[in-house]
Amino acid sequence: MPSTCVFGAQWGDEGKGKIIDRMATDADQVVRYQGGANAGHTVVVAGEKFVLHLIPSGILHPGKVNLIGNGVALDPVALLAEVDGLRERGVHVDGSNLRLSASAHVIFDHHRVMDNLAERWKGEGRIGTTGRGIGPCYADKASRTGLRVGDLLDEERLAPRLKAALAEKNAWITEVHDEPPCDYEVELQRFRELGKRLAPFVGDVGAELRDAYAAGSMVLFEGAQGAMLDIDHGTYPFVTSSNTGTAGVAAGAGFPANKLEGAIGIAKAYCTRVGEGPFPTEDHGDEGQKIRDEGNEYGATTGRPRRCGWFDAVAVRYALELNGATGLIVTNLDVLSAFDTLRIATGYRIAGEVVERYPVDVDLDELEPIYESHPGWGEDVTGARTWDELPARAQAYVKRLEELVGTPIVMLSIGPERDQVIPLAALIPELAKGGA
Ligand code: GDP
Ligand code: IMO
Ligand code: MG
Repeated sequence: MPSTCVFGAQWGDEGKGKIIDRMATDADQVVRYQGGANAGHTVVVAGEKFVLHLIPSGILHPGKVNLIGNGVALDPVALLAEVDGLRERGVHVDGSNLRLSASAHVIFDHHRVMDNLAERWKGEGRIGTTGRGIGPCYADKASRTGLRVGDLLDEERLAPRLKAALAEKNAWITEVHDEPPCDYEVELQRFRELGKRLAPFVGDVGAELRDAYAAGSMVLFEGAQGAMLDIDHGTYPFVTSSNTGTAGVAAGAGFPANKLEGAIGIAKAYCTRVGEGPFPTEDHGDEGQKIRDEGNEYGATTGRPRRCGWFDAVAVRYALELNGATGLIVTNLDVLSAFDTLRIATGYRIAGEVVERYPVDVDLDELEPIYESHPGWGEDVTGARTWDELPARAQAYVKRLEELVGTPIVMLSIGPERDQVIPLAALIPELAKGGA
């Protein structure tokens, strides 16, 4: 479809980077529209692993335009480090294939400091953020005290706005948290220089995108995080600070909402979460550890071990419904080859009642998932490239997932490499007509 959003349908790290890199073959523009360097999107090409934090996952394809929209919380240090890192590895990155919105909000040093202090203040109630300054940057945006990329390039604006922002932040840092203030002169100097390095990439991303779309371009929007981390619809307050799915596209990229045609959710064949907060199907025992070992489930941004558990059909169905998904891609199916028995949560029991629809405003720690069991297939599937090459039990498991979430599964991923996918036609024909 000419405009498609690819979003996480769980708690992040579903394999979006891999899938977007794969889908970028058919796209002209790949666009990040929310989140920031809290994201870690892994792309593996011919055994070489790249972890992208801010640069869209189309960057490894020559000739594609990668855009960072106004809705991204932009850390210039992280972005430039990523540019340098890619160039060192022979990837072409310059103002011709990477462009950045002048309206994106900037993450300063003080935002990272504040993120970590806020977490310390919360103590046991901490969110387990990535420490990348995301929450404080978006808070400033909403408070209308933030600085944007365009401000970095304009000396007249940068100095007074940074001074005013820091005066307020430093009062909080020193008086509430008893920590040393951030130095205005040091930050000013640093960000002035960073602004100069960013300048070749900066432009009007929204206008470029709308023009390109009108001229017939194929646009791919790259979600970061996942639906269950969405600030409005996720497991608040254990969420990130942006709208992670299709709802974020219009605001975060300057692209008309009614022009978005496709919405593809990504979910692992099991489930992981990094950071604190409810995770109904988490397995605290040996099976969870085994998923972590088999799937190498460690955070791409922070290296933290990911919490692991079983596929939660209630949560994924909710994520797909919420985002108007036209399709689902299931990743990491290969990881489940190591298990004799698999489990899928089909509902929750809450205070004795069975619930099949994701509940809002209940304590998710209080609910008990209702599981059904499936026999494992016990053989390697990483070499399969067609549906028919999958063992019958793997096919049955995937079909059951599709039935439970009510959205057509349009592709399977059976390994981290770009070519390790199985495109699918409708498994359950009735679903192919509509989507969630
Ligand atoms: P993202 O944040 O959604 O892009 O996902 P991450 O990159 O944080 O985490 C996904 C991890 O799974 C990465 O290490 C990928 O290389 C890996 N991966 C992606 N798809 C597959 C798959 O189908 N099978 C396996 N075994 N690993 C995969
Ligand atoms: P990708 O795009 C998984 C989690 C953090 C924490 C919460 C808030 O790679 O899927 P933040 O730093 O955003 O304020 O942290 O959100 N989190 C992610 N978890 N994948 C991510 O991104 C995440 N980005 C943030 O662990 O629980
Ligand atoms: Mg990730």
